[in-house]
Amino acid sequence: MLLLELLIFECLILVFHCSILNGQCNSIADEYRFDCHPELFASEQKCSDRGCCWRSPSNPSAGNIPWCYFPPNYVGYQIKRNSTDGNNLNIELNRVRPSGFPNDIQVVRVEVNSLTDNVLRVKFVDANNKRFEPQFPILNVPKSQLKSPLYDVQLTNEGNLVVTRKSNRRQIFNANLRTLIFSNQFHQLSSSLPSRYISGLGEHKDHFRKNVNWKRYTFFNFDSPPTFDTPLYGTHPFYFAIEDGTPHASGVFLFNSNAMDIFLSPSPAASFRPIGGVLDFFIFVGENPSDVVADYIKLIGLPNMPPLWALGFHLSRYGYNNLGRMVEAWNRTRNAKIPLDVQWSDIDYMKDFNDFTYDKNNFAGLPQFINNLHKIGMHFVPILDPGVSGGEPPNTYPPFEDGIKMNIFIKHSNGKVLVGRVWNRSGKTVFADFTNPNITDYWVKQAQRLYSNIKFDGLWIDMNEISNMVDGSLDGCPFSSLENPQYLPGNLPLKRKSVCPSAQTYAGNYYDTHNLFSTYETLTAYKTLLKLRPGKRPFILSRSTFAGQGQYGNHWTGDVFSSWEDMRYSIPAMFDFNIFGIPLVGADICGFNGATTPELCARWMAMGAFYPFSRNHNANNAPDQDPAAPNLGPEVPKASRYALTLRYKLIPYLYTLFYRAHNFGETVVRPMFFTFPNDTNSYPVENQFMWGSSLLILPVLQQGATSVNAYLPRGVWYDDFKSSYHSNGQHFTLDSPIDKINVLIRGGEIIPFADDQVLQTKDLHNVNFNLFVALNEHYKAYGELYWDDGESIDSQTKGAYNLMQFLAENRKLQATVVKNGYRAQKYVSSIVVCGVDGEPNVVTLNSKPIQVKYIQETRCFIANLNGSLNLYTNFKLLWAN
Ligand SMILES: *[C@@H]1O[C@H](CO)[C@@H](O)[C@H](O)[C@H]1NC(C)=O
Ligand SMILES: *[C@@H]1O[C@H](CO)[C@@H](O)[C@H](O)[C@H]1NC(C)=O
Ligand SMILES: *[C@@H]1O[C@H](CO)[C@@H](O)[C@H](O)[C@H]1NC(C)=O
Ligand SMILES: *[C@@H]1O[C@H](CO)[C@@H](O)[C@H](O)[C@H]1NC(C)=O
Ligand SMILES: *[C@@H]1O[C@H](CO)[C@@H](O)[C@H](O)[C@H]1NC(C)=O
Ligand SMILES: *[C@@H]1O[C@H](CO)[C@@H](O)[C@H](O)[C@H]1NC(C)=O
Repeated sequence: MLLLELLIFECLILVFHCSILNGQCNSIADEYRFDCHPELFASEQKCSDRGCCWRSPSNPSAGNIPWCYFPPNYVGYQIKRNSTDGNNLNIELNRVRPSGFPNDIQVVRVEVNSLTDNVLRVKFVDANNKRFEPQFPILNVPKSQLKSPLYDVQLTNEGNLVVTRKSNRRQIFNANLRTLIFSNQFHQLSSSLPSRYISGLGEHKDHFRKNVNWKRYTFFNFDSPPTFDTPLYGTHPFYFAIEDGTPHASGVFLFNSNAMDIFLSPSPAASFRPIGGVLDFFIFVGENPSDVVADYIKLIGLPNMPPLWALGFHLSRYGYNNLGRMVEAWNRTRNAKIPLDVQWSDIDYMKDFNDFTYDKNNFAGLPQFINNLHKIGMHFVPILDPGVSGGEPPNTYPPFEDGIKMNIFIKHSNGKVLVGRVWNRSGKTVFADFTNPNITDYWVKQAQRLYSNIKFDGLWIDMNEISNMVDGSLDGCPFSSLENPQYLPGNLPLKRKSVCPSAQTYAGNYYDTHNLFSTYETLTAYKTLLKLRPGKRPFILSRSTFAGQGQYGNHWTGDVFSSWEDMRYSIPAMFDFNIFGIPLVGADICGFNGATTPELCARWMAMGAFYPFSRNHNANNAPDQDPAAPNLGPEVPKASRYALTLRYKLIPYLYTLFYRAHNFGETVVRPMFFTFPNDTNSYPVENQFMWGSSLLILPVLQQGATSVNAYLPRGVWYDDFKSSYHSNGQHFTLDSPIDKINVLIRGGEIIPFADDQVLQTKDLHNVNFNLFVALNEHYKAYGELYWDDGESIDSQTKGAYNLMQFLAENRKLQATVVKNGYRAQKYVSSIVVCGVDGEPNVVTLNSKPIQVKYIQETRCFIANLNGSLNLYTNFKLLWAN
């Protein structure tokens, strides 16, 4: 009653203002509402206190539409000054009306820097005080070098900052600065999106294309099995939009490590809502999606070049429980002639789940087993967690004692070491602070102790969100504004299943550094491996991730279920991490949680053979699911053998894609529309995927299906030299019996592949390679091969590699040596050329006539060279009709 009276009273006094506001409020259509009270418990009173409109949406069932929204003439920040200097625009904002959040920043400086023709930076900082900004990862901000930018920047009289693509005037970014909220523990900036085709914004279980229909994406590294509408293990506040109707794309990265929401609305628009730090946006204006993604990846850091063995098949499970069972699974995989390179171990190899120990009873022979793996050229990767036990008897557990001495553990705000609980449920766990400069010395020391027993080749770092089994710490969290900000991203308490936000890390309050934790840990693991295995490329797999982490490590998609659904969603997850600069990614093949079935596992092994990171891993207590496990029957090993044999043959191409990712920021696995940005039919496709621009993988994703309905964009697609498809952008039905996965080669590409079946990647150094020349409808094709010793950290910096380019046109294949720095012989067994314009009469190799076999149906010829051609030479294959 009182409230209503007050409102009427206010309206009477401010009759004029009130009716104007009314009119203005009604003038805003639902989809243009931007939330003026985005935290919980909005009310009409609180909304009008903020000077905003309060209305029920005209269609309340249409989604999560705000009731409290900014009127069109709202001025929270006034534009005090704006000036240009060279390529930069500087704007000063002054707060003239409280936002409703505590501690509004009074004066905000906005710096708009045009960096390159494709990239600009828009940064909002407190003009008077320094605020938290991540010091790591260090971005590769391009030096200003403008020739003819694809965009222009404008500050309108209404206070909108607008970035427009020059060529077609499409708005890439359009943010109303007067509605900005920039307070100590909450920011909000809303900007229009150039289209409704948005991808990125990970890590979430979702389609590759994001939902702009009033959808909140939360970023807060969190240990949860992939579930819809839940923040998962990693934070990547980057999206790109393909501007439908054009091949163009653009993107935005918000460099901020605080917990945040990015809220999408259908106008279309995005509202960025971090709860700390500064707003540091990078805007990418590209010709097409690949350009935008490459510019983003170059900014955050190019992905690491993996050792060759990491591209092999990996075997793992939680709950071998003893060496005997591990060896049994390993041995039966080999006996089944399933290619295999790496054996893994989850936490059950440890003594009492304690980091840097191994169980000398149940895993007594582990050191010898690993030595045997090494003798036959295989590798071993164990798990490590960031927490160490703080509950062992004094002087029995150096990882704890050393850590206390070196002052390495995360502390409460009162300076006491923070104690949580991880795997040892009865125990106490303390957490190494990977932002502390002492950490590398500390970790190397601990890892060396383990390494003196077990000679691991890489490291698997888990639980590094941080995941804690109690909320905050064993004794809770102190009362502090850091514990309870007014706005909680995803409405999730920050301490939930993690560490108190008020805890102290060297780099700052855990409130600010939580999302960075895994990236610092990955860097530490990287330096540690370099120390233990000098000269060798470090291999690290991490569950938690942040933008830029791909420079040092790789990712698997966490605790997926053994379900067809989770198998399907592994494809968009792979796309996501490829655009996030972490291309060596895969899901746990056959599923982690729950029991798989023979059919699911056969299909998943077949698809998983084409994950960049291909590992079968299983939960504790779940039935065996290694591909040769007797309980799965005969079909799983058959399907695995077929698909993994094909993978191993294609690793020369896969490795070349990683070379390109490492040097140019390209993706390894990608959605079809990266190759066909003009084909709008290809935009939503996520039941098939590509390796580079050459191979199309067509997995079976439905229970009971024995064929796939493949969408083939316009062009020629080769099955092998025996069959091909000529598409105008149509669907084709391809048989896919349980033991076969369809992989097509796109016309226009030249693929190097191994001549013989190999069971380990090391054998790729001993077999000949072949070339598959898949001509397009213009009788052209192009391809590359990168090759080196497979493990040296400096192969590329020292030039110890080989790079070949292959170009086919005008009835000629020309191979060109770009680099011949890796001194090892490699011969060509055969060259297949498909899609020629008729049966060749004469074929010559380096001017000498050779015999070929011609296949009429596919217009392919096969030149059998008997291994007589040195691959690393300039050579010429000509054919004439
Ligand atoms: C920007 O500065 C110019 C020159 O001082 C001024 O005319 C213009 O109104 C300013 N723009 C805004 C939106 O304040
Ligand atoms: C591995 O399998 C082979 C063939 O069944 C068997 O002879 C051998 O003893 C097994 N090795 C181990 C270590 O289990
Ligand atoms: C927890 O650690 C203690 C030693 O600190 C050990 O005795 C106990 O077995 C461990 N529990 C588990 C479940 O590993
Ligand atoms: C590093 O460790 C030394 C002791 O070895 C300690 O004195 C110092 O305070 C530590 N540095 C930091 C930043 O914690
Ligand atoms: C897409 O279409 C544009 C013209 O709209 C053309 O210039 C471009 O080459 C096409 N790109 C591809 C990859 O087909
Ligand atoms: C490879 O061997 C076959 C059969 O001996 C022969 O016909 C063919 O000419 C040889 N090819 C080359 C390139 O030497």
